[in-house]
Amino acid sequence: MCGIIGYIGDKKATPFLIDGLRRLEYRGYDSSGIAVINGGISVHKKTGKVSELESKLPKKFEGRCGIAHTRWATHGGVTDANAHPHCSSDGKIALVHNGIIENARSLRNRLEKEGVKLRSDTDSEALVHLIHREVENGAKPLTAVRRTLKRARGTWGICVVFEGHDMIICARNGSPLVIGIGEGENWIASDTLPLQSLTQQVIRLDDGDLAIVTSDSIQTSRLDGRFTDSEVTPLDDDWGEAELGDYPHFMLKEIHEQPEALRQCLTGRLDIKDGNARLGGLGLSSKKLQKIPHVRLLGCGTALHAAQVGRLVIEELARVPALAHVSSEFRHNNPVIETDAIHFAVSQSGETADTLAAVKEIQLKGGEVRGVINVVGSTIARQCGKGCYIHSGPEQSVASTKAFSNMVAALSMFGIQIGRARSLSREKGKRLTTSLQKVPQLVDQYLSNPGPIDKVVKAVKNAKSVLFLGRGISAPVAREGALKLMEIAYIPCLAYPAGEMKHGPIALLEEGSPVIVVAPNDSLKDKTVSSIHECRARGAKIILIHEEGDSIAEEADISIPVPSTDPMFSPMLTVLPMQLIAYQTALALDCDVDRPRNLAKSVTVE
Ligand code: AGP
Repeated sequence: MCGIIGYIGDKKATPFLIDGLRRLEYRGYDSSGIAVINGGISVHKKTGKVSELESKLPKKFEGRCGIAHTRWATHGGVTDANAHPHCSSDGKIALVHNGIIENARSLRNRLEKEGVKLRSDTDSEALVHLIHREVENGAKPLTAVRRTLKRARGTWGICVVFEGHDMIICARNGSPLVIGIGEGENWIASDTLPLQSLTQQVIRLDDGDLAIVTSDSIQTSRLDGRFTDSEVTPLDDDWGEAELGDYPHFMLKEIHEQPEALRQCLTGRLDIKDGNARLGGLGLSSKKLQKIPHVRLLGCGTALHAAQVGRLVIEELARVPALAHVSSEFRHNNPVIETDAIHFAVSQSGETADTLAAVKEIQLKGGEVRGVINVVGSTIARQCGKGCYIHSGPEQSVASTKAFSNMVAALSMFGIQIGRARSLSREKGKRLTTSLQKVPQLVDQYLSNPGPIDKVVKAVKNAKSVLFLGRGISAPVAREGALKLMEIAYIPCLAYPAGEMKHGPIALLEEGSPVIVVAPNDSLKDKTVSSIHECRARGAKIILIHEEGDSIAEEADISIPVPSTDPMFSPMLTVLPMQLIAYQTALALDCDVDRPRNLAKSVTVE
């Protein structure tokens, strides 16, 4: 998604803006730009990396007030003209935008009829010209912005600067904006990451908010004109280290952070003595847990896969129906909502538009939703009000890894909690919580000795496609492995429940086709062996992820053992080889591991 950064204060704006853009790169982008006020407004923007923008910045790009942007193209191709900031025809107003203006076409047509020369294909540019028209008609900057936004339909996070005015006007509707508060200086950003090293106090704008930000004041108001008192909240310091450190890529760093991230997620929430788990932020009493009719989980991508694992754990331990839904489908299917059911919105960023929309749909129908989220204070977290944070720490690589493990850990704890409020015995609860507590060290153990990943890379990197198979709790893990390899190595992958493979996908197999099979030591293992035989009979090359010491290893061409744990918690281990396979294959194919093409870290558009 696009990234926005703004600075106003007593120092030069450009260094803050460039550094802020760098910290927003993880969101995914294809072009970037910057505008600073120094008497007039100087603008520099182009396609490519932030480093290229910086290297070509004109000398003396001075100014103590400025805005900057990384663009992830939605309307209009990847060109210099389509990069932000966009300026009014007289160059006295500059604007950056994240989101989609749904009625941009009609706004652009009207502007062109009035003689405005549009210089880009973007929806965003219409906004700056409308603001300019309002200013020409005598409106003050804030009024001009407000009137313009009342004519727009869609989503926005915008920052606007005006020549001759020492301020930044920003507004939010659907695309997050956070104001960082300093001494004699203030910052604005799309998320809290660029603010981590700058401030500990922030104002998180809500949908429909506007704000005038100067070097020593912040005045918020609503689209209807009401001025409001904005709530200053602490910037969560739970984020830990956001730097790359000695790692070559964020993805590898975040893969190796999983043991510590899991410890952060589990700490203080497991009650081994009583064989229970407690996610206090959910605000769910045992009485409520006993009565619920079912559990529904929502998510996209990796979060959906974690939700699919979670629903199996919940149903197994609590003996209550549990289902995982694709957010983008759920929200449009006019779902029947039972108000006393439990709904979870699973999301690393807490900004995914489809999941947010699904949350609002449930709430509209009288349901409650609880977040299972990584980014503290994110939009979905605030929309839900209740929930549990997974405490993964900053996940910056577009390919989600440690957030998956922590989402699974959090949902596994909920499975124990609701199970113990129903039929799960104390003894079984003790066994489960003891096993869960050991998972971080087992993850550490595997990562210290990951097995023949390089052999797997050789087998898959030039494959026409790769088939991933798993049964039961390993079926969503197979899907997660396929997603990883697809999104960063661009290899076509298919993930199927192993039992279903013979009903069609087996037709894809030919001599040497790589098939990655996830087979922990659970009740379905023998069935999975049959699937392996069916694949091998068609010449497939079997890459098997299995429990160390298990004789099933003999069925594999390439065997990757992972430490033994309760089968219910095996996804936190069997996912690891697939994360490394994707990472190493992407490297072998010289792909951009942390910023894969066409992808964004947080998909805040629908
Ligand atoms: C995962 O590797 C992808 N980057 C993507 O599928 C991601 O999981 C999905 O967009 C959901 O994001 P969220 O967890 O922030 O809601």
